[in-house]
Amino acid sequence: MSRLLVISNRLPFSIDNTGDEAVVRQSSGGLVSAIKSYFEKADVQDEGFSEKLWIGCMDGTEEEWNTVVQRSQMPHEFTVEPLFPDKKVYDDYYNGFSNSTIWPLFHYFPSLVQFRKEHFDSYRSINQLFAERIIEIYRPGDVIWVHDYQLMLLPQLLREKLPDASIGFFLHIPFPSYELFRLIPTKWKRAILNGLLGADLVGFHTHDYVQHFIQSCKMILRVENQFTNILYKGQLIKCELFPIGIDYAKFRNAITDDLTVAVATKLEDRFYNQKILFSVDRLDYTKGLEYRLDGYEEFLNKYPFWREKVVFILNVVPSRDLIPAYIERKKMIEEKVSTINGKLSSLHWQPVIYRYNHLQFDELCALYQVADAALITPLRDGMNLVAKEYVASCIDKGVLILSELTGAANELSEALLVNPTDTEEVADAIDTALTMHLIEQRSRLSNMQRRIAEYDVQKWINDFLTNLQDIKAQQAAMKAHVIKEENIRKIHEDFLQAKKRCILLDYDGTLSPIQKLPAMATPTNDLLNMLHDLTDDSRNEVVVISGRDAETLEKWLGHLPVILVAEHGAAVRLKGEDWKEQATMSAEWKERIRPLMDLFVKRCAGSFIEEKKSTLAWHYRNTHAELGFSRSRELRNSLLQLTANTPLQIIDGNKVLEVRMIGVDKGATAMNIYKLLQPDFILCIGDDTTDEDMFRALNDKGYTIKVGKSNTAAEFTILSQSDVFPFLRKIAENSATGVTAR
Ligand code: UDP
Ligand code: G6P
Repeated sequence: MSRLLVISNRLPFSIDNTGDEAVVRQSSGGLVSAIKSYFEKADVQDEGFSEKLWIGCMDGTEEEWNTVVQRSQMPHEFTVEPLFPDKKVYDDYYNGFSNSTIWPLFHYFPSLVQFRKEHFDSYRSINQLFAERIIEIYRPGDVIWVHDYQLMLLPQLLREKLPDASIGFFLHIPFPSYELFRLIPTKWKRAILNGLLGADLVGFHTHDYVQHFIQSCKMILRVENQFTNILYKGQLIKCELFPIGIDYAKFRNAITDDLTVAVATKLEDRFYNQKILFSVDRLDYTKGLEYRLDGYEEFLNKYPFWREKVVFILNVVPSRDLIPAYIERKKMIEEKVSTINGKLSSLHWQPVIYRYNHLQFDELCALYQVADAALITPLRDGMNLVAKEYVASCIDKGVLILSELTGAANELSEALLVNPTDTEEVADAIDTALTMHLIEQRSRLSNMQRRIAEYDVQKWINDFLTNLQDIKAQQAAMKAHVIKEENIRKIHEDFLQAKKRCILLDYDGTLSPIQKLPAMATPTNDLLNMLHDLTDDSRNEVVVISGRDAETLEKWLGHLPVILVAEHGAAVRLKGEDWKEQATMSAEWKERIRPLMDLFVKRCAGSFIEEKKSTLAWHYRNTHAELGFSRSRELRNSLLQLTANTPLQIIDGNKVLEVRMIGVDKGATAMNIYKLLQPDFILCIGDDTTDEDMFRALNDKGYTIKVGKSNTAAEFTILSQSDVFPFLRKIAENSATGVTAR
C-alpha cells in the first residue's frame, strides 16, 4: 500500500524555549490547522494509505528535538520527519526569500518586497535539502504532497529524480496577477514556475489564483493551456481550484465541550450586558489590523450610543517577529490600541482588549461562541480559516464582517462584506451587525454553515488526492495515445480489408507545416503526388478539410479528384462538382467585427487579418510572443462582448482568433460526408483545436489521429507534423500493392 508524504516548511509543532525548559507547542497558521485536523481524524484510514508522514523544518537543534520529544506526547496518527537546516541558510530562506519576497509580493505589498540574491540562493538550498530527504524516504507508489510558497522549487527537483512519482502542490496564499508576478527577476520567476510545474497537480484556493498562475506560465514559459491543463516538457499538468475547508465537526463538537463551555461562561459573565466584537489573526501586515482599529474607532465616534455597550477583543498571535515589517506593525498596532483606549475609555469600560499571545483551542472556540460579531478584515488573504471557524462555531447568533479581499469571501457571501481600507464602511458594518435581527443572523449563518459543513477539510483533501490520481491516469492515457507500430499495422490491415475508405485530412499543420504567412504553405510536389496516388485507388475517398478559403484550396488542390472542404465546412466541393456553400449567411456581420480587428492590427505589430468568405481571422503568429498573446486576450474579451447574443462564435486557435457562424464546424461537416459516403474505413488526421470537433464526431466510426502532443479527443497522437507524410505515403503504397506494412 502506498504512503502519503506531506511536505511543508512548518511542522505542526514548534519548540517553545520561552519557559524554564523547552516544550513543544502547536504551530499557528491555516496550513497546519487544516492538515493536522485531517491527520487527527480517526476515520481517515479508509483512503488507502498505509502510513502518513509529515516532513518539515524544525526551528531548533536535533538535540533539543530529541529531548523535547521524550518529554512530550507525540502524535501517533502520523510519523514526523524533522529537518534541521543550517541556521543562517534557513534564516535567509524563511525570513528572507519566503517572507520578505514572496509573501509580500503575493499579497500585493510590492513596496515591502526585497530582492536579494543570497535570499534566493538559500531558498534554493533549502528546497534542495527537502528534495534530498524526500528522495531518500520515497518508495514507488507513495503520494507526495508539497505545501505552500516556501517550497515552490521542490516539485521540479523531485520530478528530476522521481519521474513517475505522483506529486501534488497546493498554494495556501494568493497567486498574484501577472503584473505583480513579473516584478520578480526573470531567472527566479522562471525557476519558480518551472519548479511548480514539476507537480502533476497544482492547487489554489480560488478561480482567480488559478487563472493568474496559468497566465504567468503562458507569458513567462510560453506554454500552451487547454482549459486548466498545461502542457509542459511533454507532461500534462492540471491546475485546479480547491477552496480549503475546516474540520467542521471539531468546532461543532466544541460547543458542548466542558472546558470550552467553562471559558465561554466566564467570558459571558465578564462582559455581561456588553456586545462582544472579536478578531484573531497572526501578526501580519496582510491582516489589516491598523485599518481595522481605525474602523472600530470610527464606529465608536459615529455611533456613540455603543460606547460602554461593546468591547473589541483583539487577539494577535505572534508570528515572524524577526522581520522588521512585522516588528513595525506590532508597534503600530499597540500604539493604536493605546490611543483608542486612552481617548475613549471610561472608569468602567475599555473599548479594546488586546492580547498578543497564542490561544488554546478551548479559549479560541469559547471566543468564537460568545462573540456577537467577528471582524475579519485582512487587506489580502489566500483563504482565511478563522472566518470559517467562527461561522462553524456560532450557535444561535453571530455576524461575520469579512473583507472582500479574502479567498473566503467567495464562499461566505452571506457575511457583511467590506473593503478593509474603507473605515466608514467597516464602522457601518459593525453597527449593522450589532443591530441585526436574530432571525436574519441565523438565516445568514445557516446558509454559510451548510456550505462549510459540505466542503470540510476531509472533502478538500479527498478532492485534491482524487484529482491527483485522475491526472496521473490522464497522463498514462496520453502516453498510451502515441501511435505505436502495432497500431499502425492494425490501421493498415483494416485499410486493406475495407471496401470503401474515407481519409479526412486537415491541411495546415497536418499535410503542410505551419508557415509564417498562410500564403507560403503551398503544397509540395511530394504532397501532391502522394494525394494523387491515394486517389488512384477507386476505393479511397480523400477529403481535405480545412479552415482555408475555397479559392486557395481550389488553386492548390482543385485539380485532384478529392473532396474539398473550406472554412471549416462553410463551403464543400464534392468530387467532380462545383463548390456549394453550406449555409447562406449575410456577410454584414463582418463589417461590425472588422474595425475592431483593424484596431488590434494597429496595436500589435506583425498581426494581420485573414478574410475568408464566412470567417474573419486575426493571426498573431508573427508578433512579439508576449505582446501578441496579451493583445489576443484583450481582443477575445472585446469580441466576446461584441458577439454576445449573436449566432457568431469565436475560436481560439493556434495563434489565431477566428470569428464565424455557430454550427459551421468540421465535426458537423465530417458527419455529413460520412453519411454521404457510408465508408467502412475512416482515417482522420488533424492538428488544431478546430479538428477536435471532427475527432469527437468520428471517434467511434474510425481512426482519429491528432498531430502534436496535447490533450485531445483523438484516439492516437502523431508527435510531429513531419511524421504525417511518411505515414500517409505508406498507406498510399499499400493501397497500390495490397500488402500490409511490416
Ligand atoms: N490559530 C492558531 N493559534 C492561535 C489562534 C489561531 O493556530 O493562537 C489558528 C486558527 O484556528 C486558524 C489558523 O490559526 O485555523 C489561522 O488560519 P488563517 O487561514 O485564518 O490565517 P493564516 O494564519 O494562515 O494566515
Ligand atoms: C500562512 C502560510 C503558512 C504558514 C502560516 C504561519 O498560513 O500559508 O505556510 O505556515 O501562515 O506562518 P509561519 O511563518 O509561522 O509558518
